[in-house]
Amino acid sequence: MATVTVLPLGKSIEVAEGTTLLAALLGIEAPIPHKCEGQAKCGSCHIYVQEGRKGLSKIAREENERLDTIVGIGSKSRLACQAKVLGTENVTIELLGFGSGA
Ligand code: FES
Repeated sequence: MATVTVLPLGKSIEVAEGTTLLAALLGIEAPIPHKCEGQAKCGSCHIYVQEGRKGLSKIAREENERLDTIVGIGSKSRLACQAKVLGTENVTIELLGFGSGA
């Protein structure tokens, strides 16, 4: 288990190892788009990881290729549908569309 803090909502949730950030976010009814339903094809679930990047699975080729097509990505960018919680470190993520950035 690891704690995932969701900004700017200010919510913290306990997430089991192997759970995607998207699944965790949907579990708390967070406003996270997911047009392709987690297939790494749309990029709509783009989020920023503010803390605890090592607590998430590594970026696979498919995710990396999709991120490359998104305007506004940075070193903190991940696709919530592809990033899995490892349970080794707590994570803080930031949802987009609330007026802040990387
Ligand atoms: S839901 Fe489409 S890329 Fe994540």
